[in-house]
Amino acid sequence: MSNILEFLAHTHQSWIHPRGRAATRCLLDRLAAAPHDKLLEIGFGTGQTLVEAALRWPGSRLWGVEQSRAMYETAGRRLLFCGIARAQLSMIGDGQALPFSDGFFDAVYAESVLAILPDATIETYFREINRVLRPGGVFLNNESLWLDGLPVARRQEINRICMERFGIRQASEQWATKENWLLLAEKSGFVVAETVPLATIRPVSRWSLQPPLRATVFSALGWLHRSVRPALRAQRRTFLEAQKEMNRQGPMLEAWLFHLAKPAT
Ligand SMILES: C[S@@+](CC[C@H](N)C(=O)[O-])C[C@H]1O[C@@H](n2cnc3c(N)ncnc32)[C@H](O)[C@@H]1O
Repeated sequence: MSNILEFLAHTHQSWIHPRGRAATRCLLDRLAAAPHDKLLEIGFGTGQTLVEAALRWPGSRLWGVEQSRAMYETAGRRLLFCGIARAQLSMIGDGQALPFSDGFFDAVYAESVLAILPDATIETYFREINRVLRPGGVFLNNESLWLDGLPVARRQEINRICMERFGIRQASEQWATKENWLLLAEKSGFVVAETVPLATIRPVSRWSLQPPLRATVFSALGWLHRSVRPALRAQRRTFLEAQKEMNRQGPMLEAWLFHLAKPAT
């Protein structure tokens, strides 16, 4: 069994979440309206959003935590390639406390990270994100969650196939519904400012020539690397076949953007 995230790290894939670039823009637009001097990204993948945030807000300070060494290394190379030196990246284990003091950040964001993690890690992350945010700080989070009413037995079956074919689960059977996500957010001390169904936003091609162009060139180098390596090409074919099998399972998920706030006092 190979892990799709390892493959995506080695091939410089950007925007590993539904609605890709458009969903990231939607998230960053909301961050723009909030104070964002000190920003933390959880699970930054290959670093595309860190580049976008760094270029949008040259005065802000950026931190990121990631569990996969392959992602951590690729993101480091993407930042270097894009000439961004000020993001402080570190690695973190599942369920580990965030290595920052209470109230340190103005804003935290995560894109398609939390819902795939073990249940206990999801709960720890919500508590930890609330702890490291200053009062009045915001947590922007996009996630793919189970469609309303999808039976637990069906979620278990889909997760079984995903683990077998992609090496990761699709989403937590317990927490990853919109209702339970909001419950968890409230239980962890957040108030819900807004929820946005991401199916309503217009998609933007990953190869669009919009800035940051250097980050797109870095992604294209990953694509080139994949094209000339037979082992990577074979892996891609296997994942595409698996994706076709998943598509035959019918609709199962919907993507949401959650805008959560830590009360000011
Ligand atoms: C679906 S990918 C999304 C990557 C990136 N946020 C994006 O949207 O392109 C999930 C990411 O979460 C990372 N991850 C997994 N467990 C984690 C953990 N406990 N803490 C932080 N990141 C984690 C994975 O390595 C992977 O990079």
